[in-house]
Amino acid sequence: MSDLPLHRGYRHYSELPLSQRILYTATLFILGLGYLFALIYLFHTYAGRAGGNPMMLSYQDLVVAYSGSGKGSRIESALRGPMSNMLPRDEIDSIIAWVQQGADRAKYEKDIKPTLDKRCMSCHDGSNPHLVNLGSYDNLKKLTEQDTGANVFTLVRVSHIHLFGLTFIFFIMGLMYSHAYVRPVWFKCTIVALPFVAITLDVSSWYFTKLYHPFAWVVMGAGALMGLSFAFMWVTTMYQLWFAATPLAVNHRKDSDIPIIG
Ligand code: HEC
Repeated sequence: MSDLPLHRGYRHYSELPLSQRILYTATLFILGLGYLFALIYLFHTYAGRAGGNPMMLSYQDLVVAYSGSGKGSRIESALRGPMSNMLPRDEIDSIIAWVQQGADRAKYEKDIKPTLDKRCMSCHDGSNPHLVNLGSYDNLKKLTEQDTGANVFTLVRVSHIHLFGLTFIFFIMGLMYSHAYVRPVWFKCTIVALPFVAITLDVSSWYFTKLYHPFAWVVMGAGALMGLSFAFMWVTTMYQLWFAATPLAVNHRKDSDIPIIG
């Protein structure tokens, strides 16, 4: 394998001018730092969302982030939490039952409105701008919506940032890594291509997770794949830039036909 002839256009790091090697090194440092901050941000945003360990990113955290917990409208958590002593238990239950059955207008007029008028309007009649106004069906309806996770438009916004950003990062990374001497060649090429496959899987799975929860595994797997190929390229590039001996195949070529200038 290792005596596979080198491609004419291939340049090992040892054949690059010092200025270019310094540029690569500086870029590696900043990209590495950027990746660390990205990881911190990721954990800060997603880990523990589903109520589990806040230091561990779990399958359930991603499901909740992208498709919502499927329960816990604002009115429900208020009635079970801070507002629970404003009204008797059976009234709480009947409001929650109404919410879970779709919060229709007819039952609102008949049963719900009278309860709210009696129990809630002393504070929630709109006179205090800091409190939600419960005076109309439409206002109340907004609070009955289930938690459905990141909305599609948010995902679209984050998608385009991700697609552009990650492509730049992995293009630069892949270009620097392409000077590395790695055999077999198919393995080297796979590492270059892998992050791009992972980006595609990652971003599309955000949307699919909304429809079918197990896609959260794909989001996790793709993220891990991206991280691994980043780490592999980073370490290989840095090591071969400054620490490894020049590969034999490159040395032999230096002795023979290709002149090295500059
Ligand atoms: C004595 C005044 C008072 C009464 C009566 C009252 N609330 Fe509240 N409510 C508050 C205050 C103050 C807040 C904001 C602070 C908080 O969230 O704990 C609040 C917050 C809320 C919220 C917002 C929670 C969120 O997601 O931001 C909802 C929903 C709510 N109340 C519903 C109700 C319902 C339904 C009733 C009647 C059963 C009710 N409240 C009765 C004072 C009141």
